[in-house]
Amino acid sequence: MTPIPPLTLACIGCGARAQTYTQLARRHPRQFQIVAGADPVPDRVEKIRRISENPTFRGFPSADAILGAGKIADIMIVATQDNDHFEHCRGALQLGYDVLLEKPISTRAAQVLEIERLARAAGKRVMVCFVLRFAAFYRKVKEILDSGALGELVSIQASEGVNPWHQAHSFVRGHWSVVEKSSPMILSKCCHDVDIVHWLAGRRCVRISSFGSLECFRPERAPAGAPARCTEGCPAGETCPYNALRYAQDQRFPWLPMVYDRAQDASVEEITAWLRSSPWGRCVYHCDNDAVDRQVLAMEFEGGVTATFTMTAFATGRHIEICGTKGVLKGGESYRQHFGTHLILLPHAGEPVRYTVQAEDGGYELHGGGDPGLVNALYDEMTKPVSAPLAAGLDSTVHSHLMAFAAEEARLTGRVVTVEDLLRKVLP
Ligand SMILES: NC(=O)c1ccc[n+]([C@@H]2O[C@H](COP(=O)([O-])OP(=O)(O)OC[C@H]3O[C@@H](n4cnc5c(N)ncnc54)[C@H](O)[C@@H]3O)[C@@H](O)[C@H]2O)c1
Repeated sequence: MTPIPPLTLACIGCGARAQTYTQLARRHPRQFQIVAGADPVPDRVEKIRRISENPTFRGFPSADAILGAGKIADIMIVATQDNDHFEHCRGALQLGYDVLLEKPISTRAAQVLEIERLARAAGKRVMVCFVLRFAAFYRKVKEILDSGALGELVSIQASEGVNPWHQAHSFVRGHWSVVEKSSPMILSKCCHDVDIVHWLAGRRCVRISSFGSLECFRPERAPAGAPARCTEGCPAGETCPYNALRYAQDQRFPWLPMVYDRAQDASVEEITAWLRSSPWGRCVYHCDNDAVDRQVLAMEFEGGVTATFTMTAFATGRHIEICGTKGVLKGGESYRQHFGTHLILLPHAGEPVRYTVQAEDGGYELHGGGDPGLVNALYDEMTKPVSAPLAAGLDSTVHSHLMAFAAEEARLTGRVVTVEDLLRKVLP
C-alpha cells in the first residue's frame, strides 16, 4: 500500500502561537511536515525551522514574501496579530490554501463575513483556533449535555477570571491593551468564551446586552509617586503585585518568552535593561490601555435558552454552570483545585455524579489540553470533504464572532442588540 504523504504546513507569523502549533504538529510526523514560515523577526523564523527538523524548510521575511512564492504547502497557519488576520487569511485563500486561522477571524465584522464568502467561493476549509472546543473539560461538558442527562437545556452561566497578572501582561501593557490597535476584550480574549457558550447552546443567539468598563488600571489609581516605569525606582515597588521587575523573578515563566525572544537565556541584568524600554516595563497605572477589566453579557438564544457570561481581571480560571430540566452541571477551575474534580452533575432527582478529565499536556497550560486537542484534530478536519462541517469551521464560528461584535455594540450603546441588527449594520 502506498503511504499517504503528510499534510504540509506553512505559517505566517512565527511567534508564540505558531511555535505552539508547530511543536505540537511535530508530535505527528506521519501526519504533518512543516515546510515554511514567515516573520519579520529572523530569530522566530529560525525557531520554526528548528522545530520543523526539515532540511528543506523555507524561511521568509514577511507575509507578502511567503504569499508571493505561490502555494507551497497544503495548510497555511495564520498566526499574526489580530488586525492582520484578514489580509493574511484572504491572501492564503486566494492562493488555494486551507487555513488554520488564529482567533479572531478579523477585528471587523464585515471582514469576518468576507472571509466566510471567500472561503466558500474558493471551496477551501478555514479552521478557527477556538482551542477550548478541543479541551478535555469542554468536550466532557458537551458530551454530558448531548447525552440528555440534563434534560432540556434551560440556561448557561459562564465566567472567565483572566487573572490579575495576565490582565496586566496582555491587556494593560501588552498586545491587546489598546482596543483600536487590536480589538475589544470580548473579541480579543473572550471570543473563546462567547464561542463556548454558543457551541454548548447549540443554537443561534438572538439578542445580547452587556455592561463593562476599565476601572482599575488607570492613572488616578497609581500609588503616590509611581514613575512611568517600574525600573525607575517606584516607592510602591516592594508591595505592588504588578511590579515589572517580577519578569526577571517569579513571573519570568510562562510570561516572558511570549514577548521577549531571549527570555530563556537572559540574565536578570539583561531583562532589567529590556524592561527600561519595553512596553512590559511600564507602570500598569501609566499605560495607554483602554481594554476593559470587567464585562458582563446577558444573552437570549433561540427557543428561550438564556445565558450569562462574566469576564473579570480579578479571578483566575473559567467556570460554568448549566441548568437543565433534569439537573445542573457545575464545574471549572475552583472545582479542580479545591474539590479534586472537574465537574459535578447534580440531578434534580438522584445522586450527584463527579467527573474528572485528563488533558493532554503541551501548549498553553490554561487551555486545558485545547492546543494539543486542536492539532490532534487538524489532520482529520483538513482531509474531510470540503462540504462537511468542521469542528471549528466558519459555519459555526462566524456566528460566535457576530455575537461578540453585538456584545461590544451593546456595551458601548447601553442597548439590547440583536444579531440581526448587527448584520443589518454590517452588510452593504
Ligand atoms: N487560540 C488562542 O487561544 C490564542 C492564544 C493567544 C493568542 N492568540 C492569537 O494568536 C495570534 C498571535 O498571537 P501570538 O501570541 O503568537 O503573537 P506574537 O506577537 O507572538 O506572534 C505574531 C507574530 O507575527 C509576526 N508578524 C507581524 N507582522 C508580520 C507579517 N507582515 N508577516 C509575517 N509575520 C508577521 C510578528 O513578528 C510575531 O512574531 C493573535 O491574533 C492572538 O490573538 C490565540
